[in-house]
Amino acid sequence: MKIYTATDFKDMSRKAANIISAQIILNEKSVLGLATGSSPIGVYQQLIEWYKKGDVDFSSVTTINLDEYVGLAPDDPHSYRYFMKKYFFSHINIHESNTYLPNGLQKSQEFECMRYECIIRNNGGIDMQLLGLGHNGHIGFNEPNAAFEADTHCVTLSQDTREANKRFFDTIDDVPRQAYTMGIKTIMQARRIVVIVSGESKAEIVKRSFFGSITPDVPASVLQLHNNVTLVGDKAALSLI
Ligand code: GLP
Repeated sequence: MKIYTATDFKDMSRKAANIISAQIILNEKSVLGLATGSSPIGVYQQLIEWYKKGDVDFSSVTTINLDEYVGLAPDDPHSYRYFMKKYFFSHINIHESNTYLPNGLQKSQEFECMRYECIIRNNGGIDMQLLGLGHNGHIGFNEPNAAFEADTHCVTLSQDTREANKRFFDTIDDVPRQAYTMGIKTIMQARRIVVIVSGESKAEIVKRSFFGSITPDVPASVLQLHNNVTLVGDKAALSLI
């Protein structure tokens, strides 16, 4: 595992954006696995800035997001589709038809999970997966004790995760109870993984994930078994390792 220490959130975002733009420059048809949450917002801002300067071109890039809330329409301001549009897609020259997220409105879970795995496969797999890290070690929405062998599936969100994500909603009751997420196996099949972490509140889980035992209790700990992981964190998040 490679570890890059950044001074702060902005520096972390810039370093991770550098890695992603290098990936796109080396392969203009890259398939990027993307994430939501607060951590990647700075990365997207930096990539937008470089796109506007003409330094990076998304016209042949495909993106496949990690997850989506069940029950939310794509134009619902709380959906991850909306988030991606707002913070990234609407500012760059990516083709909307090359951007994939699970369909939160699909009632048949079995159909949606199979459809999503097919999308990943038909695009040749994910070249580079960007990941944030939940405070309980979740990646995507793979909560503690998720099976390592799971591919895309529907999960019931833990109370901790709903609490952590309620900042994006009016009240905790508005936070959906379920989500579609790529599974641990899907994530592990990405050819390269870039994890971004920022802030002191992530320090303990960073230590447990990357230097603790490999256990489903801490879903991100499975990343220790991947042969191409890059951790980009600010000093505060890396302070315990
Ligand atoms: C959500 C997302 C995850 C993300 C996590 C951490 O639960 N589904 O993909 O990694 O939040 O979020 P943040 O970056 O805001 O700490």
